[in-house]
Amino acid sequence: MSRMIKIRVPATSANLGPGFDCLGLALDVWNEVTFEAADQLKYHAIGEGAEKLNKGNRNLLTKAFTHVYKLCGRELVGVRISARNEILMSSGLGSSAAAIVAGLLGANEMLGNPLGAKQLLEIATGMEGHPDNVAPALMGGLVVSITNHDGVLYRRHELPNWTIVIVKPLVEWLTKTARAVLPRSVSRADSIFNIGRAVLVTDALRNGDLDLLQAAMDDRIHQPYRLKHISGGMAAYKTAKQFGATALSGAGPSIIAFVPPENAERAKAGIAAVFEERGIETKSLITKPSKLGGHRV
Ligand code: HSE
Repeated sequence: MSRMIKIRVPATSANLGPGFDCLGLALDVWNEVTFEAADQLKYHAIGEGAEKLNKGNRNLLTKAFTHVYKLCGRELVGVRISARNEILMSSGLGSSAAAIVAGLLGANEMLGNPLGAKQLLEIATGMEGHPDNVAPALMGGLVVSITNHDGVLYRRHELPNWTIVIVKPLVEWLTKTARAVLPRSVSRADSIFNIGRAVLVTDALRNGDLDLLQAAMDDRIHQPYRLKHISGGMAAYKTAKQFGATALSGAGPSIIAFVPPENAERAKAGIAAVFEERGIETKSLITKPSKLGGHRV
């Protein structure tokens, strides 16, 4: 292991309203990670989440990396891993999925690519618990995925150049909590409400149809339960809807809005203002979908 390997992995937004645990989109926001030979496992991050991540060598990325070595029956002497992170952590922007995918791709490259795309997707899904973020983090684009007896079944679509506004309120909101607040079962009416909308959202995203996206991007099985626990969340969500098609990004707390390009700055400021009026700081960005998933640079 003498080479230096550089991997880039995109942020992702899962669910996209009605597509709970099965729809996800890669965004043009990247974590870049280098792997090089060393005498022991060393990890260092700069950028988003660095303070938290630099507390030790055990994190999702290093776990994924070592997992590949074990799985392939290869001994890991050491590796120096350096991450430059743009993806906001604990935001609903797939930072965990990006860490897993970076670790898997880095180790796979180091070992001469013994694992194929299907295996990587299945390992990543196993580590994350659901495929909706890891699939687009690996493949880019919009990915519809399910798990069945045979593993992960998916279809990937490329999207037109949407303008996407993301606003993250700086509040404590763990994915664990975001799942714990969900009901154990949903009604037939709410299931029907979501099924049709999930199909239409996919169609609208693929065709660049903002009117259809705005009409269909709604949900009754996770957003209502989550938004009420996110301080300012419901009000920000309603404001975002005035600018475009809106959803809670992943499990939240970020709000994602698909807007006409000329309204992006106004939408970003308007959504952020709702949180800031309540004394909640925000981080926001304007981005677009990424056709590329995780790849070696
Ligand atoms: N589909 C997942 C959820 C994404 O909404 O909980 C976050 O991991």
